[in-house]
Amino acid sequence: MITRRAALAGAGALAVPTQAQDLRSLKSIAAAKGFVFGAAAATYELKDADYPPLLLRQASQLVPEYEMKRNVLEPRQGQHDFSALDLLWNFARQNGLTMRGHPLVWYYANPPWLKPALQARRDETLLAGHIDAVLKRYALSSVDVVNEAILPDGTGLRPSLWLDAFGPGYIDMAFHAARAANPKTRLVYNDFGCEQGPNDRFRAAQLKLLDGLLARKVPLDALGLQGHLNAFGKAVDQKKLRDFLQEIHDRGLAILVTELDVDDTGGPSDIAARDRAVADETRRFLDVVLDTPATVAVLTWNLTDRYADPPDEAPLKALGWRYRKGPYDARLAAKPMWDAMAQAFAGRRIAY
Ligand code: G3I
Repeated sequence: MITRRAALAGAGALAVPTQAQDLRSLKSIAAAKGFVFGAAAATYELKDADYPPLLLRQASQLVPEYEMKRNVLEPRQGQHDFSALDLLWNFARQNGLTMRGHPLVWYYANPPWLKPALQARRDETLLAGHIDAVLKRYALSSVDVVNEAILPDGTGLRPSLWLDAFGPGYIDMAFHAARAANPKTRLVYNDFGCEQGPNDRFRAAQLKLLDGLLARKVPLDALGLQGHLNAFGKAVDQKKLRDFLQEIHDRGLAILVTELDVDDTGGPSDIAARDRAVADETRRFLDVVLDTPATVAVLTWNLTDRYADPPDEAPLKALGWRYRKGPYDARLAAKPMWDAMAQAFAGRRIAY
């Protein structure tokens, strides 16, 4: 089945100038097509003189890379440290950006005192109190209320200190607490695993989770697709992805791509070939994601490769190998992924 987008692309009607010819930024191309483009940001990046101008030119929304995680916000029980998150919030507000939140409830990046506290007393304020503190302090555009609650193989809920303490109902509790804390913030369930490959079992598990929440009238507004793709592994199955996103749209939920990047591990040594593969997979993913009116935002995780350091254990790190996951390279020069994003953005139908 040839989509309208593919037909138009064939006619060249979607030709979008590359960045070299066109100073429009990703945020302006996105805005013209009715959605938001943003990127993750971290306080260490704001200290890099080159980075803020690029972020401000390209993005209209930021998401904290790690500054909103509980191990940063509440390192000791009852003692919140919002200083790092305030830096990002003030930067956004002073520069006209919105901010989305990530995450409120996650199995990972929790302070060491939390698990024993929950084991000692299944105190719901240890969940709802944190959510209330964050959402009352920041007027977030949207927030990942619960992050990565499903096992990657789709066989059930991921074990966590939250599941141990409150059972599956912790997810409902979190969304109700978030709605009560700030009714204006879009409430998102965020996960990875639906983007590439068949992943039928994971997608079924995600729909089962969402349907349960909706059936219990839990205040859920959107699904967050993290969008951590692989350029040399599973590829996007465009038909299966399209069918899945239609299911999400049919449930009245919005869709956000929350952490887009394309891992080029396993690629050839030739940089140009790696960059082309990253761009191609980006385009194949976004063409489908943007072909549904439910999609309201696309955010990349790292806007540039400058900080995309592979983990120390990465086999090729010792050889100087570095990821090339984002639309800008380590010198902040645009890569083919930028053009692929601009073309996918510009090709979005807006008359739905
Ligand atoms: O910047 C501090 C530094 O000041 C401090 O000295 C150092 C030692 O404690 O920590 C540094 O912070 C680190 C931070 O990354 C910034 O580099 C944290 O330790 C480290 O835990 C944190 O890792 C983040 C990770 O989530 C866990 O929070 C990564 O940056 C971030 O990219 C990663 O992002 C996740 C999403 O939240 C969920 N989806 C997957 C995604 C990628 O793994």
